[in-house]
Amino acid sequence: MAGPNELLAAIADVGADRRRGGYSRHVFDDAERELREWFVEQAEARDLRVSTDRNANIWAWWGDPGDDAVVTGSHLDSVPGGGAFDGPLGVVSALSAVDILRDKGFRPRRPLAVLVFAEEEGGRFGVPCLGSRLLTGTIDADKAGALRDPSGVTFAEAMRSFGADPVRLGRDVEALRRIGQFVELHVEQGRGLVDLDRPVAVASSILAHGRWRFRFRGQGNHAGATLISDRHDPMLPASQLVLAARRAASGVAGGRATVGRLVPNPGGTNVIASTVDLWLDARSPDDRSTRSMVEDLSGVASEFASAEGCQVDVTEESYGGTVHFDAVFRDQLSGLLDDAPALSTGAGHDAGILAAEVPAAMLFVRNPTGISHAPEEHAEPDDCTAGARALARVLENLAG
Ligand code: GLV
Ligand code: MN
Ligand code: MN
Repeated sequence: MAGPNELLAAIADVGADRRRGGYSRHVFDDAERELREWFVEQAEARDLRVSTDRNANIWAWWGDPGDDAVVTGSHLDSVPGGGAFDGPLGVVSALSAVDILRDKGFRPRRPLAVLVFAEEEGGRFGVPCLGSRLLTGTIDADKAGALRDPSGVTFAEAMRSFGADPVRLGRDVEALRRIGQFVELHVEQGRGLVDLDRPVAVASSILAHGRWRFRFRGQGNHAGATLISDRHDPMLPASQLVLAARRAASGVAGGRATVGRLVPNPGGTNVIASTVDLWLDARSPDDRSTRSMVEDLSGVASEFASAEGCQVDVTEESYGGTVHFDAVFRDQLSGLLDDAPALSTGAGHDAGILAAEVPAAMLFVRNPTGISHAPEEHAEPDDCTAGARALARVLENLAG
């Protein structure tokens, strides 16, 4: 059947974003639906048994579904204007690994499944790893169902219009019991493998990270008629917070703080905004410094707001503590892959959410640009092939 490069080529047009560049594929939008349908066709062409769970994650079973399975997969959604590899590489490598194993006559002795998670990036409803958080009960089901996209549609409504029933959203003990071990292959989102001159790594840890919405409230007004001394412009404290975030992260070892999204309301060139919503993404190696960075920034946001006669409300939209992947499992995989190096990552993953429940591991494939969440994200065809082979080897060992 097809290797990972042919499979990626087959979806290269789906969700291509002409305006932003790269890909915009968000849960249940046209592009993501098309990818889901494509995945189901590909899985069925391999005689895998496909089902969608209560939380909109897709499972494709090699043989009968069963407990203590070896499960591999990733996601098909993207950030706005994202790269071609973040998510899809793990999915196509899983399909390709099944082909590699079939071609050599392998028959799994443990159940084996490919799993595609819903809304990993939180690109539409704001909470990353929503499918795996729901599956594990890491997010309250009612809260998840009520999450709204930028046009006001709730996750539950979007699920219904996709044809799925949101009434049984939430922790799925039966599905979780099925996962004996989980392995996610992912494009590397840094230059660790370039520096080490290796094609494939295993993951050691994920930074503690979360997302916070700062809503600055001021007085909407006329850009020409309002004296500077009379203004309560929420864009001022918002922009001060952008700078403060950079300063705060620079003061924390391994810290990162990003404002990648800022929405003034109503958003007119000649209008002083009445509110500005700004999302802070903050990360660091440990919970304490991530939390204290955000507390400090909330404090200064309030000072910046009062100096302009504005107010600010801060809402935590998601959080995940530091993940240390199971060291025994990680070393076992590394041993199978010519002592693949172990790399930590600053990016969140469904494997990190699952790691609290089941032994979970990740394989990273070299990214020569080191760039991710942008069109320049890349993996060379030979490295994608090496990644799929590495995954096949891991699955063969775990399920054989
Ligand atoms: C997901 O890719 C994240 O780390 O935000
Ligand atoms: Mn991502
Ligand atoms: Mn990803």
